[in-house]
Amino acid sequence: MNEIIVSGMRPTGKLHLGHYLGVIQNWVNLQDKYDCYFFAADWHALTTKYDKTDELRQNTLDVVMDWLACGIDPEKSVIYVQSLVPEIAELNIYLSMITPQNWVERDPTLKDMAKILKTKEGQGSQVNYGLMGYPVLMSADIMMFNADCVPVGIDQVAHIEITRDIARRFNNLYGEEFFHEAKPLLNHCSLICGLDGNKMGKSFNNDIKISDTAEATSKKIMSAITDRSRLRKDDPGHPDDCEVAFKYWTIFGDEDEVSTVRCECEKGLRGCAQCKRQLGDKINEKLSEIRERRKYYEENPQLVEKIIAEGSAKARVRAQQVLADVRRLVKMY
Ligand code: TRP
Repeated sequence: MNEIIVSGMRPTGKLHLGHYLGVIQNWVNLQDKYDCYFFAADWHALTTKYDKTDELRQNTLDVVMDWLACGIDPEKSVIYVQSLVPEIAELNIYLSMITPQNWVERDPTLKDMAKILKTKEGQGSQVNYGLMGYPVLMSADIMMFNADCVPVGIDQVAHIEITRDIARRFNNLYGEEFFHEAKPLLNHCSLICGLDGNKMGKSFNNDIKISDTAEATSKKIMSAITDRSRLRKDDPGHPDDCEVAFKYWTIFGDEDEVSTVRCECEKGLRGCAQCKRQLGDKINEKLSEIRERRKYYEENPQLVEKIIAEGSAKARVRAQQVLADVRRLVKMY
């Protein structure tokens, strides 16, 4: 039997290259070695966006379309929407009963989320009960399929520590080594920065979306920061001080291309504008297959709906088995 992997993303809208290189590529590779469960965490989205649900459905579709385009394969992995597996909500209840309040109160990622919320105005700035339950709900996601590993970014590790504590406590309380203690699987891919050199993020307006057109991508790349000390295009450039463009070359170019770019830049034979035009073409070439698939799903949303419905049904079958055991162990009626 393969080890089990569970991971999810909050459906916040179309994904960017940071998601692709940092998370999804990793998921794609895991599909062949593990039994994978990938889901859109729409309940988790509600913990902070409960007042903005108009776009939730479309955002969920967009996230799943991006996954499919990048190569998450419904034949290999179970793809589902969290709220379509209501068993998770029931498990969340049992877990919340055995989680000491101070375990969630000291979760650093949660503290950060609360801090950011409080800087916002009016409604939606409140820390609700549901948000305090964020790591418990996440534990329910993970334990629902008795996961062994959870591929995530470093910011999620604190949550998973709580999941391990909850699993241990459950096993102690109900007298059986039932739940595995899931381990975080950190992605070691290099992080791609945004077009302005800061962290790539949707809200910073410095991202390239997986679903952007080739033209939009080329245009965005032309705005990328280069070597700030370089004034004229035939001045010798400094690739290592080039804050964005050269870094992107090292991610998207092959070894020969990168050394050509470095060499020509250092000799002043390659202006930044020309360099970025080429870079845009390079990135578009790398993404063309993904974007073609993205377009295909966009034009056939009923296919995506079907994948979600079938994946969620599959997830429920497994979830119901685990839940039956949980109810027996807790000695529910
Ligand atoms: N909290 C995760 C994030 O913001 C999303 C998530 C929800 C998740 N439940 C999960 C990730 C379970 C892994 C496992 O990225």
